[in-house]
Amino acid sequence: MIPRLGVNIDHVATIRNARGSQYPDPVHAAKLAVSAGADGITAHLREDRRHISDADIESLLKSLTVPLNLEIAATDEMLQIALKARPHAACIVPEKREERTTEGGLDAAGLYDDLAPFIRKLRDNGSRVSLFIEADYKQIDAALTLGAPVVELHTGAYADAFYAGEFAKSEALLEQLNKAASYGAERGLEIHAGHGLTFETVTPVAAIEQVSELNIGHFLISDAIFSGLHGSVSRMKELIALARADGAE
Ligand code: PXP
Repeated sequence: MIPRLGVNIDHVATIRNARGSQYPDPVHAAKLAVSAGADGITAHLREDRRHISDADIESLLKSLTVPLNLEIAATDEMLQIALKARPHAACIVPEKREERTTEGGLDAAGLYDDLAPFIRKLRDNGSRVSLFIEADYKQIDAALTLGAPVVELHTGAYADAFYAGEFAKSEALLEQLNKAASYGAERGLEIHAGHGLTFETVTPVAAIEQVSELNIGHFLISDAIFSGLHGSVSRMKELIALARADGAE
């Protein structure tokens, strides 16, 4: 089965928030992603609201025709929001205020007491819960004990090693992802993967037989600059020229 693609639209909101403007609209981006074949939309509502806002989540829930995967930290505030929003999926991620992005996976094993009621409430409320973890048997065992039906394996270290030119390391991390995927799937978990994936790094991860969903964001929004900037500049030139054309006001 071909893995589903969840498109993470956080960084459309990052660009919007950099200027406090109304554009670019992450909901518009989500719709465009869906029209291009995205199977789902992923958004991370961070505690500091640095990109996606509460209003974005509301608009996404109202207008999406595909499942929303809401990424949240395991805090009381996020639990209340997710219980009210009732997204198709809730992915629990570790969150540190000072980090640039989600660095490393959740310590599902170490946070058992906090996570167990959190996961139970979300599941009882109808959301499919996933835990964003490192490709580590101990964390997979913890996800099983916690009753999470899905784990998302963090591919960030693999992708970083690839771009650092540390190919032996990236191969070893890929092997770890492969092993963790089969270990988890054999025990009944649904396996997802994501973080830092690009056109150059996605193929071996998408090829892992047990992976049924990939969540990709930062690279897609970055690449869209290069696939879209030409048209945007041409359109601006056109409008400027039209303003001076005969008959223009
Ligand atoms: N999966 C999870 C759980 C994430 O937290 C993120 C980043 O928000 C992604 C996937 C997507 O990562 P990237 O934006 O690097 O593609």
